[in-house]
Amino acid sequence: AGCDIGLIGAGVMGKSLTLNLADHGYRVAVFDRDPNRLDALHDQDAAERGDRPTRLHGCSTYPQLLAQLPTPRIILLSIPAGKPVDEVCQRLIAAGIGTEDIVVDTGNSLWSDSQAREQHYRSHFIFFSTAVSGGEVGARFGPSLMPSGCPAAWSRLQPIWEAIAAKVDPESGQPIESRVPGKPVTGGEPCAAYIGPGGSGHYVKMVHNGIEYADMQMICEAYQIMRDALGMQPAAIAAVFAQWNRGVLNSYLIEISAEILATTDADSGLPLVDIILDKAGQKGTGLWTAVSSLQLGIPAPSIAEAVAARSLSALKPERMIASGVLAGPQAAPPPDHQKHAHIEALHDALYCAKLCVYAQGFQLMRCAAREQGWTLNFAAIASIWRAGCIIRARFLHAIREAFACDPDLQNLLLAPYFAKQLAARQHNWRQAVAHAALSGIPIAALGSALSYYDAYRTAVLPANLLQAQRDFFGAHRFERIDRDEGTLYHCEWSLPGRPLTH
Ligand code: 6PG
Repeated sequence: AGCDIGLIGAGVMGKSLTLNLADHGYRVAVFDRDPNRLDALHDQDAAERGDRPTRLHGCSTYPQLLAQLPTPRIILLSIPAGKPVDEVCQRLIAAGIGTEDIVVDTGNSLWSDSQAREQHYRSHFIFFSTAVSGGEVGARFGPSLMPSGCPAAWSRLQPIWEAIAAKVDPESGQPIESRVPGKPVTGGEPCAAYIGPGGSGHYVKMVHNGIEYADMQMICEAYQIMRDALGMQPAAIAAVFAQWNRGVLNSYLIEISAEILATTDADSGLPLVDIILDKAGQKGTGLWTAVSSLQLGIPAPSIAEAVAARSLSALKPERMIASGVLAGPQAAPPPDHQKHAHIEALHDALYCAKLCVYAQGFQLMRCAAREQGWTLNFAAIASIWRAGCIIRARFLHAIREAFACDPDLQNLLLAPYFAKQLAARQHNWRQAVAHAALSGIPIAALGSALSYYDAYRTAVLPANLLQAQRDFFGAHRFERIDRDEGTLYHCEWSLPGRPLTH
C-alpha cells in the first residue's frame, strides 16, 4: 500500500485532480483502462515536477489499484456521469472493495442518482459524492468542491478537499490564485464546504450549472447587442468586457469572454469568435435545473430560457431558412454619441439580470432543501462559489453577506442591499431590454429576468383572470379575496345570474 488515495479515470479532470493532490503531498494510485491516458498523466507529471520524485502510481487493473491503498480506502471517480459510475462501482465490488472504503463520485452526476447510489452500495462500500467545478484549470490548481454524503466519510475527506480546493482571501473575498505546479496556495479560506446528506452536493452543483448557463447566455446576449445593434467589432466588445470586469460585474465568465473576443485566428487573421459556428452544445445539467424548477414550482425562467436558447441555436439550418422568410425591424445603429449610454444601460441590465438568476437559483435550492429535509447553508454555498468555480464572481461575496445576515432570506432580491441596487439600475435595464427588442435582438435571459423581477414585485398579477378561465372551462374553482383563505368557489358561468357556490 504505497499510496494514500486512489483515482479512477485519468481524463482531463481526473488528470488535473491527481496532479493537484500530488502538489499537496498525497500519493495517488491512478487507474485508467486506457494506457495512453496514464502515459499522458505521467508525461505531464514529469514535465511539471522536474527532478522531484513522483507521487503517482499508474495501475492497469482494479485489484492493483486496491492493493496500492491503505484500508479503509479512499477512491475518487472521475468518469462520465450515468452508467459508467455504476459499471466502475461493480468492478470495485468484484475486485474486493471493503465496506469501510469510501468511493467518491466527482463527476456531474444527477443528484437523485447519487442519492440512490448511497443506499444501493451501502452493503459494499460507502458511496460519497463531491461535485467539482472549475474545469481543467480549476481541478489542477484549486476547484470549488461541493461534497455530500455520510458525515463520517466527510471527516476523512475534509482535510484533503480543503487542501486542494481554491482559496479565498477572507478579508476581500477575492480568489488567491497560483498557477505554478508544485507551489500551491497556502492559507486563505478553502472553497470546500460539506453541503449535506447524499445527493445534496450534486443538487447544489446542478443549480450552479443552471446559473452558469444563464450567466453565459446573458453575456452572449450583451455581445450580440453590441455586435448587431451597436455595430461593434469583437476587439471593441472585448474592451468593454475587460472594463466591466474591473467593476461590479467582475467574474471569470466576463474575464474569459473579453479574452475570447480579443483573440484572432492564426490562419485567417480574423477574430476567432467570428469563425466559430453559432451552434451551442449542452450536456444536460442546465436542463436538469430547469426540470427541477418546474417540478418544484419554483420559477427559474432565465435558466430555462438559457437552455432553450442553446436548443434554438442548434437549429442552424432552420434558422438560416427563417432568416430569409421572417421579417425583423428596420433598425439602424444609434449615432456614435449615443453608444456610450447604450453600453452603460447594457452593463446595468447584465448586473440586474444576473442578480435575478442567482435569486432564482438560491430560491430553488431553498425549496429543494425543504422537500428533501436538507439543511443547506446558503452563506457557505455562496462562499465556496467565490473562487475555483465557473460562476465565480465578485458579487458572490455580497450574496454571502446577505445570507449571513439573514439565513432564512426567502429571495435574494429582498436583501436590502440588492433591492437598492435593483432600484438604482432598473431604468437602464429596461432601456437595454427595450432597445434590444426594438432592434430585433433576442434577449431570452436578459428579458426573462426582467419579467421575473416585475412579476415578483407585483402585488396583483393577472392570475385572477386565469383562475376564472380555469373555472369557466373546467370547474377548477377559485379563492375569493373577500372571503376566508382556502375556501374554494365555483361560478355557474352559463347560468343566468352566474350563481357562486362553494
Ligand atoms: C464546471 C462546469 C463543468 C462543465 C459543464 C458544462 O462547473 O466546471 O459546469 O461542470 O463545463 O458540464 O456543461 P455543458 O457542456 O452542458 O455546457
